[in-house]
Amino acid sequence: MNVMNERPALNSPIQPEDFPERSPLLRVENVHAGYGKKEVLQGVTLSLAPGEIVAVIGANGAGKSTLLKVVAGLIKPAAGRVIFRGEDITNLPTYRRARGGIAYLIQGGAVFPSLSVGDHLELGRAAARRGGRVSCGVLPFPALEDRASSAAGLFSGGQRQALASATILSTEPALLLADEPSAGLAPAAAAELLATLAAASRERGLPVLWVEQRVADVLPLADRAVLLRSGLVAAETSSPGDWLDGETLAHLTFGRGA
Ligand SMILES: Nc1ncnc2c1ncn2[C@@H]1O[C@H](COP(=O)(O)OP(=O)(O)OP(=O)(O)O)[C@@H](O)[C@H]1O
Ligand SMILES: [Mg+2]
Repeated sequence: MNVMNERPALNSPIQPEDFPERSPLLRVENVHAGYGKKEVLQGVTLSLAPGEIVAVIGANGAGKSTLLKVVAGLIKPAAGRVIFRGEDITNLPTYRRARGGIAYLIQGGAVFPSLSVGDHLELGRAAARRGGRVSCGVLPFPALEDRASSAAGLFSGGQRQALASATILSTEPALLLADEPSAGLAPAAAAELLATLAAASRERGLPVLWVEQRVADVLPLADRAVLLRSGLVAAETSSPGDWLDGETLAHLTFGRGA
């Protein structure tokens, strides 16, 4: 496969006109962002259509989490725009984005140690302004089976991350930004969590911008994949399975053969 054809030029910033799309749900346009004087994102452009699951992959330090922070509103871009549902939200504070349905699943899966699974889901539902108790029977996560009344502080890493995912789904978001929901989990637990999260998102028609190190697990679950390298979209594909072979991935990720 000739990966060089995926993008007009592997090392140049992607211009919006390179990938015209009809009314995307989310559009990140030529975003430059970083920390202090350090520019991490150097002109990132990408779109996400309604209901689409887009995997964002790339080496450590490529800027994946920084991209999610820009969309969540935790970092203000030095240049470029973020458009959500046709509205320019570049300068909108994080809480307004959250109210608008942009949910951010942070790396490590934050939960409240003293609260039970039921409490978490109730909080999520309250955030969605629907209130009421959620039957734990509707929870799709096998790791949480029979754990409805246990305090999250007693959970294993896998159970904690499943709970963080379940909680965020219970807020009924319009867009999910997921930062490595499988981080730190054993392979089997990670694969189960990712498959469940993808299935639950599909069932809800929930679009997901999904940063993930476990590329072999996430690529088959995604509609599209974007590869970040040195703060740029270095490649993009509508056939994420094509990136599953190690040589292609090493070339894309590090700019060299495996
Ligand atoms: N709070 C911060 N202050 C300063 N520099 C930061 C901060 N967070 C990240 N960086 C730097 O920005 C660059 C990109 O970081 P980012 O967290 O976006 O990478 P990543 O692609 O998510 O990597 P990983 O796969 O390791 O999570 C790195 O060089 C990192 O050291
Ligand atoms: Mg990261």
